[in-house]
Amino acid sequence: MKLYPSLLLLALASLACTASRHSSAGSRYTEPHRPQFHFSPEQHWMNDPNGMVYYDGEYHLFYQYYPGATVWGPMHWGHAVSTDLVHWTHLPVALYPDDNLGMIFSGSAVVDWNNTSGFGSAGKPPLVAIFTQHLMAGEKAGRHDFQTQGIAYSTDRGRTWTKYAGNPVIPNTKAIHDFRDPKMFWDKGSRQWVMVMAAGDHVMIWGSPDLKHWTHLSDFGREWGAHGGVWECPDLFRLPVEGSTEQKWVLLLSINPGAPNGGSGTQYFVGDFDGKTFVPDPSFVPSIAKGKGLWIDYGRDNYAGVTWSDIPEQDGRRLFLGWMGNWDYAQVVPTGVWRSAMTLPRSLSLRRSGEGYRLLSAPVRELQRLRQKAQTIPAGPIKGTLPLDTPAPLREIDLTLDWNGAAQAAPLGLELFNAKGERVLLGYDPVAQELFMDRTQSGNLDFSPKFSSKDRAPYRATGKRLRLHVFIDLASVEVFADDGGAVMTGIFFPTENLSGLRIFSESDGVQVVSGTDWPLKKIW
Ligand code: FRU
Repeated sequence: MKLYPSLLLLALASLACTASRHSSAGSRYTEPHRPQFHFSPEQHWMNDPNGMVYYDGEYHLFYQYYPGATVWGPMHWGHAVSTDLVHWTHLPVALYPDDNLGMIFSGSAVVDWNNTSGFGSAGKPPLVAIFTQHLMAGEKAGRHDFQTQGIAYSTDRGRTWTKYAGNPVIPNTKAIHDFRDPKMFWDKGSRQWVMVMAAGDHVMIWGSPDLKHWTHLSDFGREWGAHGGVWECPDLFRLPVEGSTEQKWVLLLSINPGAPNGGSGTQYFVGDFDGKTFVPDPSFVPSIAKGKGLWIDYGRDNYAGVTWSDIPEQDGRRLFLGWMGNWDYAQVVPTGVWRSAMTLPRSLSLRRSGEGYRLLSAPVRELQRLRQKAQTIPAGPIKGTLPLDTPAPLREIDLTLDWNGAAQAAPLGLELFNAKGERVLLGYDPVAQELFMDRTQSGNLDFSPKFSSKDRAPYRATGKRLRLHVFIDLASVEVFADDGGAVMTGIFFPTENLSGLRIFSESDGVQVVSGTDWPLKKIW
């Protein structure tokens, strides 16, 4: 994010804050392009997911929120909760800007189980949030120390929050211009709180015994990964390597601009963390050397995503959510009273393939609750296109295609379309070895010259066969190839819903191996 608002907007925001009140789901959610099974705020501007934590049966989702307009402005933390990761209840704004330290930028939250902070009481752990405060007055005055880290706590299941009187807990003593987005966790190995945050072109790692006092432990990244834009919103966590007893650490890191298909994107690193330093695994180094990066999602619209804290061990999943937007055009997309939605929640896993460690994403199983009556897509050859019978604007498709019989491998995949000739293509090019998403004819494209695009993800399908697991909402599509080895998320704005669907193949000899098509229910 680069554009910062005027002081006038700050004043408008404080007016809006006093007017902001509790509102629950049940608003109309029927406006054109309104996501029907993705999270979006009832009104106004939203960007990054923040403070995601699971506590006492609830998944909390806080988010960058400006309750004064449908463009970015003085940031608050909006708030919603879910008991199933599918249905969301809106709650009042959790954190407001203040005069001393400024707006509330991105950050994270944890359950302080052992009350190390002292904010809770015996048997009643507090929720503690850490976030960046951004002081406009400092920035306007040309200073560089206007971003600092502060904390706040809640002892009522996240319903109300108190900012710590000793903020900032991490002042910006070195005057680092971009100094933000703290994400923290309890590190069992080193028996301390560990926090990663972005500092321009690198990640800083900090440690703390009590969430109030922080020590700078190390830096990572100047020499690795994609650069060119500002680094933002890191996350660090451990994952088991599929089919082994090995565990590795994954560092997520968002960058804007600098994503493979333009604008904002999130890269990842796989390595080891010893309680102090993160080091990329030697086998992973070739993937991130010389400005190269690997990306959690190659679509244009998955940014600033991080994972939930405190998912119970018996669940064991590492659950991720991203902002379904791109700073290239997010503030001008043609939506009405709200702007932006989140991706679907995803479960992350790690696999060691021939190419090295790779991060996989899968839509969470809870989404199966949205399924309506399954329709089987008949197995058999595709000649040209194969229309799927029932038009439906909300769908999940699980389709496996095979091109073993094709003399010449040509692009194949799915086309979403409407009667006006607007369409989005999702497919695979076996020659280029790329998954692609083409929204160059997706309807309304005029709002930004940067929006229309054909985006690509490098992906090697094995055995001339590919599974496409796809979620289609009114204004977005998410594609998971095979087990989530390549993922693409994209938004679009047709002038009429893209309710038609067909399978296409540009050569003979391609066949449907198996397929299911589920119309989906709405959540609002
Ligand atoms: C990422 C970001 C963060 C910042 C927030 C401000 O999209 O720029 O770095 O904390 O948005 O809203």
